[in-house]
Amino acid sequence: MLASVVPDFAADSTQGHIQFHQYIEGSWAILFSHPADYTPVCTTELGEVARLQGEFTKRGVKVLALSSDTTDAHRGWIDDIEAFTPGCKVDYPIISDAKQKIATLYGGIDPDEKDKAGNALSARAVFVVGPDKKLKLSILYPATTGRNFIEILRVIDSLQLTAQHSVATPVNWKHGECVAAVPGLSDDEVTQKFGGFKRVVLPSGKGYLRLVSDPES
Ligand code: BEZ
Repeated sequence: MLASVVPDFAADSTQGHIQFHQYIEGSWAILFSHPADYTPVCTTELGEVARLQGEFTKRGVKVLALSSDTTDAHRGWIDDIEAFTPGCKVDYPIISDAKQKIATLYGGIDPDEKDKAGNALSARAVFVVGPDKKLKLSILYPATTGRNFIEILRVIDSLQLTAQHSVATPVNWKHGECVAAVPGLSDDEVTQKFGGFKRVVLPSGKGYLRLVSDPES
């Protein structure tokens, strides 16, 4: 649930034992899950995240993948991932969740997609966790839809900006573009915090859309 401390777990990974809360300690983190190793969409996604690793690091975000297979399977699969996305190196841990304990704990099972034995697969979940270990965002995709990690970086930019300033980021927002003052602030407070604002005139006349410059640009 948003703003709650995420459940802790202990697991084996391609980079050894991980205690999730300890791993997060004081950093932002992204945990993203996969239905299974050696599957088409998952292979493309993990390569893309490896390609974007520098972007996550730049934002101070620790990356952690999870897939419903063993650590040995993950280690073999990394060769396929790196071959599919040339030049990428999977430097982040892939957690072993062969029995789907963590996926179940986090509510990330896709009942519509089944393995050959008829068991439901893990969904493609994304959890962004703040340095306070609280959930800042969760997105759940079905196993059959690959994610757009450029969009997830954009979302992290919004989460990190709005954690520091009383603003909300409009549709398709990117760093440098105007943001909206949050509705909880009075006009005087917005002026005091941001040195002024531009009110967008709309038919309702309610005056709620108050734009200010990106406070970090
Ligand atoms: C895939 O990664 O391509 C995939 C995995 C499980 C179900 C459907 C697709």
